[in-house]
Order: sequence, then structure tokens, then C-alpha cells
Amino acid sequence: MAMKALILAGGLGTRLRPLTYRMPKPLVPLLGKPLVSHIIDPLPAEVDTVILAVSYMREALDEYFSTHDVGRKIILVNEEQPLGTGGAIRNVSHYLDDTFIAFNGDVVCSVDLNDMLRYHRSHGGIGTMALWQVEDPSAFGVVGRDIRGRITAFQEKPPKGEAISSSINAGVYIFEREIIDHIPSGVVSMERQVFPNVLGKGLHGYEFKGYWVDCGTRENILAAQRTLLDLGGGKVSPELIREDDAALVGTNMVLRAHLRGCRVGPHAYIEDDVLITKGAEVSESMVFKGALIEEGAQVHGSIIGPDCVVAKGEIVRDQVLART
Ligand code: GTP
Repeated sequence: MAMKALILAGGLGTRLRPLTYRMPKPLVPLLGKPLVSHIIDPLPAEVDTVILAVSYMREALDEYFSTHDVGRKIILVNEEQPLGTGGAIRNVSHYLDDTFIAFNGDVVCSVDLNDMLRYHRSHGGIGTMALWQVEDPSAFGVVGRDIRGRITAFQEKPPKGEAISSSINAGVYIFEREIIDHIPSGVVSMERQVFPNVLGKGLHGYEFKGYWVDCGTRENILAAQRTLLDLGGGKVSPELIREDDAALVGTNMVLRAHLRGCRVGPHAYIEDDVLITKGAEVSESMVFKGALIEEGAQVHGSIIGPDCVVAKGEIVRDQVLART
């Protein structure tokens, strides 16, 4: 039976500024593919329609999906004002059927949605939330469960040492339509205002293994890039121009760029028309289209936006640079 998926993609992406002044976060490329496509591509075959709840820079998203075929019907639903994660779900309710999958648009993970759907169907209840194990849950929404997998408690960002478990909300859900009845109108947070009120309706937690990254920050999106590169996502374009012994170190993805007597890697993503010149070094970074890394410059742990210039000898470490 055909099914719908909903992706929350309307956030401002403030933590990735200044990059997100020009590019909405769902379109930030992760190894050559927009973040949102990392969610769409692995959806189960039965998902024929993807609803994107958008607000900030929706024109850019509209333009992307009208020029790229992602193999599924895409419906963009706009919010005049961002309605929060709960408000966004309520706002698209007329498109939703009985059972639907929902995602925080930043999440890149290895959850097996077919298996999660089986789990949801066999456990019943109003919804199933994917759970990820972390060593330090103090920055996350922490979830407590009973032995049958039913969620019994939520804790938002508990102080160190006070967490009720090491399982966190991974931002991937399967809901029954009934969840919408529990979302009040206006700006609503699913995490704070809805989940704690529906525990009696049977909200289950589904643990998965592999990888999970919330790509909302520079550090995290670069961690996702590292993970995917280490899993074999590396690639060097045949059109890459390498001169004067330019060295590629470790796993990287380099598209049609010019590398001149420089050192690139490990874990670098270099887009088309980038020029990296003599003596420059780039590692653990993303360098977007048309950027120029001048002689002897160093870029580590950073995101260099389209057409940015890193000047001769400059050192850029742990930064997001973009033309505004
Ligand atoms: P920051 O400003 O950096 O915190 O990023 P953000 O605005 O994206 O917020 P956050 O990372 O907490 O959001 C998690 C996910 O929910 C992201 O995929 C957002 O796009 C999405 N999201 C957050 N708020 C809204 C909203 O009001 N409406 C919609 N449609 N999506 C939202």
C-alpha cells in the first residue's frame, strides 16, 4: 500500500550560518547530495509521496525539486511563520493518511525503515520513535522505556549524570494519523508539548545500530561526511586536474576541481571548479563550487561556501565561511 513520508525542512539553520543565509540547510550538499536526499533515497519502496514542510528559503527548495527528479512525488507545504516541529505536522495533516513516516530534516542515519515499520506494526500504538544510543545524552532528548519497548518518560537535555537512559530521540518516527489530534494549533514543539502527552496511547522506541548524525552544526555535518567517507563513499572525479604532485591523503570526494601542488585530505569534499593552489592544505572540510584556496593557506575542520576565497597563507580552522 502506498505510504507518505513527511520531512520537517523549515528551520532557519542558524547554527550553520553564514552558509544558510544563501542555501537552506536541507540543500547543503553532503558528499555531492543534498541533506534532504540522504533521507529521500533510502525510503521504503511503498513511499510514493514525500511532503516537505518548508518555510525558510522555500523558493530554493521549490527550484531544486522542480529541476531534479528524486523518484517520488514531492509536495512542498509552506508555513508563513515557522510553526515548530508539531505545528508543521498539523499544518500538512490534509495530505497524511493512516500511517506515515516523519523525519527531522537534518538527520543522516542508517535506520532500516522497513524493519522499523515491521516493529511499529507488530507493537501497535500511536507511534514509534527511532532511538540512538549515546555515551553522553546531556545535549539530547532522552527516552525511558519499559521492557516491552513502550516509552514511559522523556527528559529534555538532562544535566550530566542525571539521564534516565542512554537512548535518545533520533528524529525519525512512524506515526498513526491519530497523533494529529494531540497537536494543539499554533507554534508547537513535538518534543516538548506532544510526546509527553501521548505516552498513554502507546509510543514505542525502536533502537537501531550503525550511524546517526544530526547535521545541524558544522561539527556534526563534518562528522557525517567523515562517517560516510569511511563507509566507502569516497570518489575522485576523472575530470579532476592534479598538477605538480598535488597529494590526496586518505578518503575524500573530489569532483571537477583543480589541485595544484597542494595536499588534500583526509575526509575532504571538494566541489566542481574549486582551485586549491601551491602549498595549501585542506582536511576534514567541505569546499563548495568555485571556491579558491590560495597559496599556503590551510583549511581544517571547516566549511568553505561557494565562491569564497581563502587568502594566501590564511589559516581557517573550525569555521563556516560563506559570501553573504
Ligand atoms: P538551528 O536554527 O541551527 O537550530 O536549526 P533549525 O532551525 O533547523 O532547528 P532544528 O535543528 O532544531 O530543527 C530540527 C529539524 O526540524 C530541522 O530539519 C528543521 O528544518 C525542522 N524544523 C525546525 N523548526 C521547524 C518549523 O518551525 N517548521 C518546519 N517545517 N520545520 C522545522
